[in-house]
Amino acid sequence: MIPYKHEPFTDFTNEDNKASLKKGFETIKKDFGSEYPLIINGERVLTDKKLASYNPAQKDEVIGQMSQAGEKEALDAMEVAKETFKEWRKSTFEFRSDVLFKAATIIRKRKFEFTALLVKEAGKPWKEADADTAEAIDFLEYYARQNIELKNGKPVVSRPGEKNRFDYIPLGVGLVISPWNFALAIMAGTTSAALVTGNTVLLKPSSKASVISYKFVEVLEEAGLPKGVVNFIPGSSREIGDLLVEHKDTAFVSFTGSRDVGVNIYEKAAIVQEGQINLKRVIAEMGGKDTIVVDSSADLDLAAEAIVTSAFAFSGQKCSACSRVIALEDIHDELLEKVVSLTKDLTIGNPEEDNFMGPVIDQASVEKIEKYLEIGKEEGKLEVGGTIDNETGHFVHPTVFSGLKHDDRVMQEEIFGPVVGFAKASNFTEAIEFANDTDYGLTGAVITKNREHQEEARRDFMVGNLYFNRGCTAAIVGYHPFGGFKMSGTDSKAGGPDYLTLHMQGKTSSEMF
Ligand code: SER
Repeated sequence: MIPYKHEPFTDFTNEDNKASLKKGFETIKKDFGSEYPLIINGERVLTDKKLASYNPAQKDEVIGQMSQAGEKEALDAMEVAKETFKEWRKSTFEFRSDVLFKAATIIRKRKFEFTALLVKEAGKPWKEADADTAEAIDFLEYYARQNIELKNGKPVVSRPGEKNRFDYIPLGVGLVISPWNFALAIMAGTTSAALVTGNTVLLKPSSKASVISYKFVEVLEEAGLPKGVVNFIPGSSREIGDLLVEHKDTAFVSFTGSRDVGVNIYEKAAIVQEGQINLKRVIAEMGGKDTIVVDSSADLDLAAEAIVTSAFAFSGQKCSACSRVIALEDIHDELLEKVVSLTKDLTIGNPEEDNFMGPVIDQASVEKIEKYLEIGKEEGKLEVGGTIDNETGHFVHPTVFSGLKHDDRVMQEEIFGPVVGFAKASNFTEAIEFANDTDYGLTGAVITKNREHQEEARRDFMVGNLYFNRGCTAAIVGYHPFGGFKMSGTDSKAGGPDYLTLHMQGKTSSEMF
């Protein structure tokens, strides 16, 4: 087998690549406004209730009208998933991995189409959309290989006259609830991990980017996935989310999204329902309030670049995005000046035209960010940004606040927008204390040339993904297993060596000769 290596990013200074992406836009535009069905047992089910998925950069452009599953469809899908599991659990590891390898190849061939759809449906700038598509391919390639490695279980000790084995078997029906911010990558990653390990899946994607999920399920079908293994059921959390989380036959829930929803799922999944015979597992990737610590010894140009990219790429809508800077007093002012200057140079506008920053996802997001812009103005000093253009699309200008205390609200609560706050620390140990003083523990970065400080941070900075002398976003599958501590989730490390076993149970068998 060819060893795993991450999918290369596309160079958009190359004219051929630009032309290919433009062709991608032409291809996907032909389908705009179409109606999309649910997929249950391979059958297309159009429902009366539909929800428009629209372009956040151009609100009147409807990407698709997505059928919404109600209680009946959700329960039908559960029955299909239960029935299909009886056979799918017997499928070979190779068969399941081959479906993922083939799916990766199909997406690679249609890369520009998927990237174009992410630009349009999620409002991602080209580079970000390309990285999302590449990450989806990576998840498929990485999990397909890792699954094969699990084929013979893990070694255990035998003794004369006794042969022992330790194997991994699937859990059952998994509910996958995926987010809009990595609408292809995280949806494909969580779905493929669940199915490649022999489980059947109920996929409930985010309503804000559901068309791309539909296209992904089509790819799985084309790759040879038997019907009923993945059932595609977009729908509201209220109507079907809770119902399926609480369902006695749900074996596990794989959720990526906000802290509030994640905590609700965790609590509901813990309650054992009448007739339930398994304790449910929950894999939860939730929010972040991610800090870049800048030490006195830091290369300040590197630090400023890392902050701006981590805070504003994809409009700060990554759980890994930098939203807090803790700078040592002596370099604080110079660093702030550099960050403000870089921020002023950013281009913001329609992502189809390859601006650095596009829109935020929807009206609710605009309103939430607007609230924090007001709070930030009260708590600190607005250095740049702070304005919103919500006419044709949901544009929020990249915003920097200074003069904050590390425990101010804009430094504590997840905003999920292009807003970053600065606070000072008087020494490095205090900087790490301030960095740790949030409910979250997802990513963090330290910019320093002092190796002792670096090692102090490695020991004491409580985040699942810690980076030195770079930004705090852009984890790569297989290279930087991704997941956080504290209220950021169950530290389940997507794209890491232990991820697949979270979807399986270990079975010991012992034979006497
Ligand atoms: N994996 C992404 C990043 O590291 C976040 O989901 O930015």
